[in-house]
Amino acid sequence: MHNFPDTTEESRRRWEINADYWDERMGDTSNFFHCNIVRPHTEQLLDLREGDLVLDIACGTGNFSQRLAERGAVVVAFDDSETMIAHAKRRRFAYRDKISFHVCDATDYAQLRSLKQERPFDKAVSNMAVMDIADIEPLFRAVGEMLKHGGTFVFSTHHPCFTRPQDNYRTPCVHEGEAIKGQPVPGYYYHRPLQDIFRICFDAGFVIDGFFEERDDDEEYPVIMIVRLRKR
Ligand SMILES: C[S@@+](CC[C@H](N)C(=O)[O-])C[C@H]1O[C@@H](n2cnc3c(N)ncnc32)[C@H](O)[C@@H]1O
Repeated sequence: MHNFPDTTEESRRRWEINADYWDERMGDTSNFFHCNIVRPHTEQLLDLREGDLVLDIACGTGNFSQRLAERGAVVVAFDDSETMIAHAKRRRFAYRDKISFHVCDATDYAQLRSLKQERPFDKAVSNMAVMDIADIEPLFRAVGEMLKHGGTFVFSTHHPCFTRPQDNYRTPCVHEGEAIKGQPVPGYYYHRPLQDIFRICFDAGFVIDGFFEERDDDEEYPVIMIVRLRKR
């Protein structure tokens, strides 16, 4: 299995450049793609309960963190981009007693473990970021350790069968792309076949107990998948 940890720094640099553009486009309530394609089944799988302690992974400007807080969750949210987190703190200021925002690199196991709270997390969520992270093994391992038994981790990401570089399926690779049309610089995407992604989930002690494939414009081809993992 290939990981690409040496590209993390450059990936972060590009997200920093794109962060203001991302913030303008997402605004306070997020964009059409998030609201209509990512969010409905993510929320269904997350099955949020009042008082849930939730980890929001690679939270960007915190639109979903706010959504969780509005529904009664206590949220620990993080992103690797300092500018994203600055925007998140500004936009979600009214929710500061329900959400704590942190700068943290999801490829760094020690940084992830420093987010541990006094009680285990009930749930974790990551919207459209697994394909942005150079090495996902530390993330799934740390989340597995910080969740309560029976706790769930719901993540949405590119569907690797249908959103991938032309010549690769089985071979992981890094490729460039746009998260939002017209962004200042292209970002890095990390393609991995399903068996690699799921093996990391299973090795971290999870089973899959929920799964959706979401389409965008084309009726037949899903562009993203939404997976619910449950800690055994
Ligand atoms: C496509 S955005 C999604 C943001 C947010 N989850 C949302 O749905 O609005 C991907 C996010 O992943 C973050 N990211 C990329 N690599 C990361 C890493 N190694 N650790 C933490 N965050 C990372 C980026 O800074 C960016 O905010």
